[in-house]
Amino acid sequence: MGSGTTLVEARLLNRNAIGIDINGEALSISKKNLEFSCNTGSKIFIRKGNAIDLHFISNDSIDFICTHPPYANIIRYSAGIDGDISLLEVDEFVEEMQKIAKESYRILKTGKICAIMIGDMRKHGRVVPLGFRLMECFLKAGFVNKEIIIKEQHNCRSTACWEKRDNDFLLLAHEYIFVFQKTG
Ligand SMILES: C[S@@+](CC[C@H](N)C(=O)[O-])C[C@H]1O[C@@H](n2cnc3c(N)ncnc32)[C@H](O)[C@@H]1O
Repeated sequence: MGSGTTLVEARLLNRNAIGIDINGEALSISKKNLEFSCNTGSKIFIRKGNAIDLHFISNDSIDFICTHPPYANIIRYSAGIDGDISLLEVDEFVEEMQKIAKESYRILKTGKICAIMIGDMRKHGRVVPLGFRLMECFLKAGFVNKEIIIKEQHNCRSTACWEKRDNDFLLLAHEYIFVFQKTG
């Protein structure tokens, strides 16, 4: 959920939505960002929780999943919240994302779409292909690839910071939006 961008869009599009984040601060920010008047009548629920355990959502009940996880620990979203995957090194992060992919598969209706936005990272001057590793998690969970969208990003607020940090070749200037489908 983060700051609630997806929920704001859901509300503008008149779609019911459930937003989940492990960090209470994300809930407060999202609540604030959802305080706007709009003539749609959609129902938006927000809930503090860990995306590896969505027990409050039944099997095959969700029409669309849109998720934007941390990019392992390149930005830490909390100082030590239990279950916060932004505190994990790459391999542990991928293990947790495998569980999230499995849980996403469980709750999604057959035929429907799960979209995930993720970027690669650079460590000690080398590219860590986090995007492809997460793609594998979702394929292993049973999804099929419907689309791979490359989202270019230029002139971001953080560009100057990445230019200075651990980058002796090209600046990573794209992210992926993997669009998966549950077919089985
Ligand atoms: C990249 S941000 C999402 C940004 C969002 N798209 C926005 O527009 O603000 C990733 C979010 O994942 C949350 N998070 C980390 N571990 C989580 C977990 N296990 N379950 C649910 N949310 C988690 C973090 O607290 C953070 O808010």
